[in-house]
Amino acid sequence: MEITEFKALREKAGLTPNDASEKFEVNTRTIYRWDNGECRPHPLALKYLKEMISKANSTTLNKEDFKYIDLFAGIGGFRKAFDSIGGKCVFTSEWDKYCRTTYQANFESDHIVEGDIRQFTNDPESLSKIPKHDLLVAGFPCQPFSIAGVSKKNAMGRPHGFKCDTQGTLFFDLAQIIEFHQPKAILLENVKNLVSHDKGKTFKVIKRTLEKELGYNIQFRIIDAKGFVPQHRERIFIVGFKNNTDFNFDDLEIPSSNEGPRLNSILHSSLEQDELPFYENGKVGDKYTLTPRLWEYLQEYKAKHRAKGNGFGFTLSGKNDVSRTLSARYYKDGSEILIEQGKERPRRLTPRECSRLMGFDSSNESKWKIPVSDTQAYKQFGNSVAVPVATAVAKFIKPYIVETENKSKKIVQNLPIEKSKELSTI
Ligand SMILES: C[S@@+](CC[C@H](N)C(=O)[O-])C[C@H]1O[C@@H](n2cnc3c(N)ncnc32)[C@H](O)[C@@H]1O
Repeated sequence: MEITEFKALREKAGLTPNDASEKFEVNTRTIYRWDNGECRPHPLALKYLKEMISKANSTTLNKEDFKYIDLFAGIGGFRKAFDSIGGKCVFTSEWDKYCRTTYQANFESDHIVEGDIRQFTNDPESLSKIPKHDLLVAGFPCQPFSIAGVSKKNAMGRPHGFKCDTQGTLFFDLAQIIEFHQPKAILLENVKNLVSHDKGKTFKVIKRTLEKELGYNIQFRIIDAKGFVPQHRERIFIVGFKNNTDFNFDDLEIPSSNEGPRLNSILHSSLEQDELPFYENGKVGDKYTLTPRLWEYLQEYKAKHRAKGNGFGFTLSGKNDVSRTLSARYYKDGSEILIEQGKERPRRLTPRECSRLMGFDSSNESKWKIPVSDTQAYKQFGNSVAVPVATAVAKFIKPYIVETENKSKKIVQNLPIEKSKELSTI
């Protein structure tokens, strides 16, 4: 079916059917009719969308406003966010081949996706193969740092600092890249528990390394995705700037989670049935419904833990709920987010619903390419950053990246000519 002008404009303007229904004060069913060409959209709605798009085009800063590198890239949650605000990705590293397949299917690039980042950190020559960049982005895996013995090493006059404390961890590799390239800004993301990991020691080493050894001004904030998507997902975002800025992470406004979207905004609807091979009898079919055996097992497991007084086990979610955090183990039994199906056994989310739950697709959309098995897709979405959160952070830090760039140009310009020549050749 050919896409209608209304649907094309609506999607380009970034409006979901729900957004459009609110904006044009008609019900969502009417929006779907306009989308499908079942009836003609109101001319004022078309005019409004066209104006909205042209306004957005004129206010969007030029493409390639700044260059960034995407480390521990997964399937590209940060890539989607930073590309959308004018960043140019100049280097990507992700060692999982299935993640690379998804990443490459969704992003056109003038560079290949590199594998293990440690190939680039083992000597200074390899470090220089990573292109220059203004921003380093990394959703790095958290590993314990053993800081025992540091003071002993200090006393014995051996090397200390991050080269010693974090050796063998992926943060060590990150720190080396930052030390070598000195990007204007860095953005690191991790699970919320990074702060309390190993009784706070891990975070202490990270902070000290970034601030004291690498010279960055660091701020961090824990953000819950549930103001943006119907999922409770708390992650820590650490932002650092090489220069002094008036950046204040607390000024980033996060939509209130009470008014955030609910699961119905990401679940398949009968309107999609023609496109869904697994849709049967007006619902997502058996493929995603739990087998009797698994459902029995999950209920017994929960009952056993309830008897011990703890709340482990599956969670049933309805269409007006916000889900628990989607994890990389969702493919195993789906227990953290099971969708109620009335009297029938519950079902898992489909990979497409996970894509929407993580914000790779907006509600009712199916644009994100999923070229891997369901198992891999669940792992990939469960490991990812929620795209709308990453986009909000990206938009918020962008002026400071561009500003720091302008600031350094200004300094060069204000100096006497000879000195300025010297500086600009560095
Ligand atoms: C928490 S996930 C980051 C996901 C990403 N932010 C996204 O939106 O999809 C961490 C990723 O680091 C990758 N990884 C782990 N060790 C790596 C290494 N040595 N080199 C490159 N990638 C690595 C993992 O395969 C995983 O996809």
